[in-house]
Amino acid sequence: MTNILALDAIAMTYNIKMAKSTLQSIPVQLGQVIDLKIESMAYDNSAIGRYKDFVIMVDRAAPGDEIKAEITSLRPNYARAKIVDLVKFDNSYRIEAECKIFKVCGGCQWQHLDYKKQLEQKDLLLKSFFSKLELEDGVLKNTIGMDDIWHYRNKVQYPVRTVKDTGRLKAGYFEWHSRDLINVKFCPIQNDIFDSIIETVRDLAPKYRITAYDGAEKRGWLRHICLRSGRNIKGDLEVLLTLVVVTEEMKNSDEFTREVMKKHPEVVGICLNKNTNTTNVIYGDKTKVLAGRGFLFETLNGLIFKISATSFFQVNSKQAEKMLNIIDKYADLKGDEVVLDAYCGGGVIAISLAKNAKKVLGIEEIRQSIEDANYSAKQNKVTNFTFLNGKVENKIHDVLDEFNPDLVVLDPPRGGCNKKVIEDLLNFDVKKIIYTSCNPTTLARDLDLLSPKYKIKSIQPLDMFPHSYHVENVVLLERID
Ligand SMILES: C[S@@+](CC[C@H](N)C(=O)[O-])C[C@H]1O[C@@H](n2cnc3c(N)ncnc32)[C@H](O)[C@@H]1O
Repeated sequence: MTNILALDAIAMTYNIKMAKSTLQSIPVQLGQVIDLKIESMAYDNSAIGRYKDFVIMVDRAAPGDEIKAEITSLRPNYARAKIVDLVKFDNSYRIEAECKIFKVCGGCQWQHLDYKKQLEQKDLLLKSFFSKLELEDGVLKNTIGMDDIWHYRNKVQYPVRTVKDTGRLKAGYFEWHSRDLINVKFCPIQNDIFDSIIETVRDLAPKYRITAYDGAEKRGWLRHICLRSGRNIKGDLEVLLTLVVVTEEMKNSDEFTREVMKKHPEVVGICLNKNTNTTNVIYGDKTKVLAGRGFLFETLNGLIFKISATSFFQVNSKQAEKMLNIIDKYADLKGDEVVLDAYCGGGVIAISLAKNAKKVLGIEEIRQSIEDANYSAKQNKVTNFTFLNGKVENKIHDVLDEFNPDLVVLDPPRGGCNKKVIEDLLNFDVKKIIYTSCNPTTLARDLDLLSPKYKIKSIQPLDMFPHSYHVENVVLLERID
């Protein structure tokens, strides 16, 4: 996903310089090798240097690198380049990546920086993202990192290919800037049980005639292998395996599920999710349970949450606990407040705030997530809740009108809030908003839109995604009276 969001980010960070450049004034050419000093990390898989003031983005480079870089692509506002010679670097933080395939794999981007440097670079990026907001000193905090930065991901979704000669499956991440699939056998950022379960599916594929779906040829069956993990209330590990497929029929599925579950007793359920869409959305609407259950449990701060195969859940449970603590602190509830958790997913934020509120409300467009939220609320003996199924932009006006919440929590997807949601918030007298987001570009946009009526009191970045450029932010806004 070198992507529009990354380009937005580049544009945002470098808008003054970028606006000046024209195709004629670009000082480099394709294939040219230039001497370059790298200044900082970019909001993608590259790092940034400037050649005659022109931005050059270099894959897998690091701040302080002095390199010979070959220009590989040109845009009006920046060029991309690859390292042909790493002449000098700072070995106090530029390190050998833990993962052997780091240089090609598109899964993560910053493993060549030690963790302290990763956090420092995230702080720098955030400063530039939020620079237009003219924050008062001390409002933007430093990123809260993790103690253990490995094996933190509780979810993996690998696309697959079939190797023609052997019938074996390849499953893994795509190479950067490519649709070539890497057969990932070991991934140090995700739950380490995932590697062996995926290997079992690879091993069993020829026996059960499991072939990868080829969209161009319209042949084959399996699109993605998805795994999620969690810990139930007793602390036992639970894993859910979902095969995303194009038809729900599977021959000998009983035997297949028995083999997988016998080998991996942690697997509590195996599902088929049918997806015939031609988009790159991973899951389709229908999920069938082949064996066990269609959900697993995860425990956060002593609360238990049901997570269905395709529902949203934070990918880093340890940091999610810290996120909930920050939200709790920002909310500062006294017990008589009404709280709206917009984009509530499986109700994690609403349920964790419920004990200190008079009432919590949630809005979520995915019906399955609403069912999970209702289930989890009851499991946690929460009774003061109402979860509503629908789009926030369609429901928020009436909810604000009817319930007059004291606090609105916003946790939208990467695209940020719909404009109508911001407009409704500006029109009602909500005292406090807590906005949590995994995308600083859309967050900065929405904070700017809220700025006529809301003052940003605090922004707490949180590293949910070590070794990647991504970063979560939790923002406290208070209405200007
Ligand atoms: C970043 S997740 C946050 C979920 C939840 N707050 C949590 O922490 O687990 C965003 C959620 O918003 C939902 N969503 C996306 N667009 C929506 C919309 N327009 N209206 C309602 N829900 C939406 C997604 O299905 C997803 O569950």
